[in-house]
Amino acid sequence: MTSSVKKIAVTGAAGQIAYSLLWRIANGDVYGKDTPVELQLLEIPAAIGGAEGVAMELNDSAFPLLKKITVTDKLEEAFDGTNAAFLVGAKPRGKGEERSDLLAANGKIFGPQGKAINDHAAEDIRVLVVGNPANTNALIAMHAAKDVPNERFNAMMRLDHNRAISQLSEKLGRDKTDIENLVVWGNHSATQFPDITYATVGGEKISELVEHDWYVDQFIPRVAKRGAEIIEVRGKSSAASAASSAVDHMHDWINGTERWASAAIPSDGSYGIPEGLIVGMPTVARNGKWEVVQGLDLSDFQKARIEANVKELQEERDAVADLLG
Ligand code: NAD
Ligand code: LMR
Repeated sequence: MTSSVKKIAVTGAAGQIAYSLLWRIANGDVYGKDTPVELQLLEIPAAIGGAEGVAMELNDSAFPLLKKITVTDKLEEAFDGTNAAFLVGAKPRGKGEERSDLLAANGKIFGPQGKAINDHAAEDIRVLVVGNPANTNALIAMHAAKDVPNERFNAMMRLDHNRAISQLSEKLGRDKTDIENLVVWGNHSATQFPDITYATVGGEKISELVEHDWYVDQFIPRVAKRGAEIIEVRGKSSAASAASSAVDHMHDWINGTERWASAAIPSDGSYGIPEGLIVGMPTVARNGKWEVVQGLDLSDFQKARIEANVKELQEERDAVADLLG
């Protein structure tokens, strides 16, 4: 049976990430192969031509599920009746910059978008913020959307999660799908904490299969700084891997997953993380909602790493206090 059509908004539609993301959405990789979709593409006026060209190419791809494309620079049109929104449109960092350096330029994008989502989106709206610094941009959008439940605003940690799985798979010589119960806590920044404490491969504890020094001195920084490594090698920030991870996140949020996934969601106070901050946590998704995996024991090492992320997110939040209406 065919489901009713879903409207999906993507901002930054003429950009690098969108050029990969839109094809996956149109292919049915978010809602599923029985759900038709309409794409609502937002760009700034200067890049509307680029977005129109992207729409032409999407049409030329003749996706059976893709029913309509709207290209616009108007927020109310982009978010009109939208069920899912990927907030991608924002400046990427260059070599030598941290993601938080983008806050001044990018933060102001997300308040008006949050307000437009509040006023025009569908009741079941789910928002995934990808534009950096993603956690704090998501916080800004969430604050501007007073009538939308906070839980509908997420930031992307899934790329970090996927990077961690890939690094472990390579180190252990084991299949990626055999790796479970991994989490990347915190901020999508170099402070993030890819945590293997509970991780298993085919049921074996990964912490007993790798050297502690490798974990602390190589694995954690490699994953945390992978974005910078990609910029260094590729000359541009990651795009297709970011798009793929955004699809993974939204797909699992909507369709559910019992496998742990790292998602940055508004904290409910679990593990002593202050409520309100949008923080990467160990999650599963049930009935269309993320649930924090409960009952984990935290060592002092873990607590210190999580605390460093909380501190950084609080500092970012303080830096944009004027945008948190
Ligand atoms: P890009 O420069 O190729 O594209 C960004 C697009 O956004 C441009 O076309 C620009 O015109 C558009 N844009 C700017 N302001 C806008 C606004 N107010 N409304 C709508 N569109 C707007 O950049 P990209 O490589 O696609 O990256 C986009 C963002 O995603 C960057 O901030 C980047 O750092 C971030 N990113 C995040 C992750 C993550 O894991 N969270 C991963 C990769 C990239
Ligand atoms: C990434 O992690 O690849 C993105 O956040 C881009 C960046 O600036 O590192």
